[in-house]
Amino acid sequence: MSDAARRKQAAAEAALGFLTDDTIIGVGTGSTVNFFIDALAGRRDRVRGAVSSSEASTARLRAAGIEVLDLNQTGDLELYVDGADEADRHGRLIKGGGGALTREKIVAAASRRFVCIVDDTKVVDVLGRFPLPVEVIPMARSYVARQLLKLGGQPVLREAFITDNGNPILDVHGLRILDPPALEAAINGIAGVVTVGLFAQRAADIVLVGEADGVRRLK
Ligand code: A5P
Repeated sequence: MSDAARRKQAAAEAALGFLTDDTIIGVGTGSTVNFFIDALAGRRDRVRGAVSSSEASTARLRAAGIEVLDLNQTGDLELYVDGADEADRHGRLIKGGGGALTREKIVAAASRRFVCIVDDTKVVDVLGRFPLPVEVIPMARSYVARQLLKLGGQPVLREAFITDNGNPILDVHGLRILDPPALEAAINGIAGVVTVGLFAQRAADIVLVGEADGVRRLK
């Protein structure tokens, strides 16, 4: 296993410390979350089930023997565990590198506590080095791209990719995001945007950072 993978695994295993017995847990998407699901498999009798943020995580949860439940049936969740592509020290995130941003944002919104798990390469002072994913309704793709240009970014259509919701993604390069909640609101306000992968209005409550010599709690 690579060093980066080991740091992701360490952060993922540390998130198990936030589990409370007999709850339903929200589960994100990505390689770091895959480590979390694998670790959760050993504790599956402690959770009642999971709400999943993607088809990929659903398949992995089921293979681990964890029941996957519908958010419409569960009500709000105690805990959501997910990775990120970038995190700042306030717990504000860029997410959606894996394309699951819309369901991730819904599950995060419906959860009382959001624990984000990352390795130390993801921590930045200012968000924006990682291209910001924006999921769009197909017919609005070009219109939204023109509005994103006006906001100072360079949108690039993600090639050969469609989300679990059937939509394309624009990855916005060249942003230096000095006011994440304001940019999140501005992009949310463009007609045709389904979700922007900026998690600032609902940031992570806790960020666990896997490092070479252990796990640091950033927030
Ligand atoms: C999925 O769409 C993303 O939001 C992931 O949470 C993010 O890309 C982190 O993925 P890794 O854990 O694979 O780095």
